[in-house]
Amino acid sequence: MQALSAIRAEHRSLAAVIHGLVYLVRAAREAPPDFALLAAMLRYIEDFPERFHHPKEDVWLFARLRQRHAPAAALVDALQREHAEGARRIRALRRALGRWQAAQGDPADTGSAREAFAELADDYATFHWGHMRREELEAMPLCEAHFDAGDWAEIDAAFAAQEDPLSGASQATGFDELFRRIVRAAPPPVGTGK
Ligand SMILES: [Fe+2]
Ligand SMILES: [Fe+2]
Repeated sequence: MQALSAIRAEHRSLAAVIHGLVYLVRAAREAPPDFALLAAMLRYIEDFPERFHHPKEDVWLFARLRQRHAPAAALVDALQREHAEGARRIRALRRALGRWQAAQGDPADTGSAREAFAELADDYATFHWGHMRREELEAMPLCEAHFDAGDWAEIDAAFAAQEDPLSGASQATGFDELFRRIVRAAPPPVGTGK
């Protein structure tokens, strides 16, 4: 069941960046933000789930859960709808960040564009927190209850293959590097930058 530990660890990384984003947007009421850093954080919370985290959940955990425990179908449907909803919310955040950045120089416009982004970021943090909790408290215990040793061997191997391909840098390495860059660039208490 190393797969579930990996999913939990990925949730913690995502939550750290999402909460860091919310914190920095609040701090931007006092001083102009580092837009490149905010864009990097958005890229992480968009690409990491889309390309790395959700495929593992959808293709392995959720598809297998449907097979092994039919009553979980409604829960899996809801979680997969939330994956699509999350992607839509991130696109809205990206557009709002562009409007905020474009409004620099006009204090009134900047303030309203910043608050629009802040509201979307707060909503996204709440939405994502609920999604992770549902996965960890509802879906993952069902996987633990209904998967057998063969299921776990197959799923653990699939996760390991995704994280450790034979050639070149793995996807995980790329996202780890982006995460470290965010931590280095973000000021305390979010990161270790200035
Ligand atoms: Fe998910
Ligand atoms: Fe997840």
